[in-house]
Amino acid sequence: MAYNLLKGKKGIIFGALNEKSIAWQVALKAHEEGAELVLTNTPVALRLGELEALASITKSQIIPADATNVDELKNLISKSMEIFGGKIDFILHSIGMSPNVRKGLSYDNLNYDFYQKTLDISALSFHKVLLVCRSLDAIKEWGSVVALSYVAAQRTLYGYNDMADAKSLLESIARSFGYIYGRDKKIRVNTVSQSPTLTTAGSGVKGIDRLLDFSERMSPLGNANAEDCANYCITLFSDLTKKVTMQNLFHDGGFSSMGMSLKAMSQYEQSFHDVVGD
Ligand SMILES: NC(=O)c1ccc[n+]([C@@H]2O[C@H](COP(=O)([O-])OP(=O)(O)OC[C@H]3O[C@@H](n4cnc5c(N)ncnc54)[C@H](O)[C@@H]3O)[C@@H](O)[C@H]2O)c1
Repeated sequence: MAYNLLKGKKGIIFGALNEKSIAWQVALKAHEEGAELVLTNTPVALRLGELEALASITKSQIIPADATNVDELKNLISKSMEIFGGKIDFILHSIGMSPNVRKGLSYDNLNYDFYQKTLDISALSFHKVLLVCRSLDAIKEWGSVVALSYVAAQRTLYGYNDMADAKSLLESIARSFGYIYGRDKKIRVNTVSQSPTLTTAGSGVKGIDRLLDFSERMSPLGNANAEDCANYCITLFSDLTKKVTMQNLFHDGGFSSMGMSLKAMSQYEQSFHDVVGD
């Protein structure tokens, strides 16, 4: 059911790769809620060809940009303003990648060139998007910028590797830039810390199946899926959350406030019995 929460608003969505992507679901919901969109991803991701299907459903244009490249971001933001005939109301940063995770290098055996790439793609790109928008005065007053994070920024989770550092940096950038952008232009900057979700990036996380099962058992409301996340992002782009800024907002069914749940304890006891044989 749509509520017209984004009627007349214009937004840029980074990071829709395929139907499983969180950004894909956000684009569908934003369109349903009345927004006009520009979709963007790297030239490599665009060559996979799936984004065109989303552009056709949402009647959006696609502009390629590597989010680590400031010139490509300038081109994206200025072309988007031409398409919209004015400034932007909201932006979703839904970008993450770790070459160390991809190559299976553990946290105590990182490749430092890869590490820098992880930070550049997954965190600094957010700073670059904000800085380019600010230099082009591209976002309307009371506009909203959201990036997607994960609880590994605060708590160590086995196997999340250097992405945990990237997420800590991402959340810090939201606070630091949120102050400046809020003070000067009344623009909101937040991160949404999402449950583990079965997407292309999510599938790269070590032991994702067991992690999904663990957080499902630990969360009183269960894991939030990509569609749930999209609904939450829409509220943050809407005028209903005008005074929310510089926050890391947990969207995880309660996981981040839990220590141990009955369901997780029962499973743990079960495995313990299996191991000791009683
Ligand atoms: N899936 C999860 O379990 C989970 C949980 C919490 C947060 N997140 C975060 O959600 C966001 C979206 O990930 P997803 O799970 O939808 O996976 P996804 O693989 O569908 O999306 C990741 C996107 O990042 C894009 N990307 C990579 N390098 C880029 C670059 N240089 N410039 C521009 N785009 C680039 C990819 O092309 C892809 O579209 C990421 O920030 C991820 O860390 C995911």
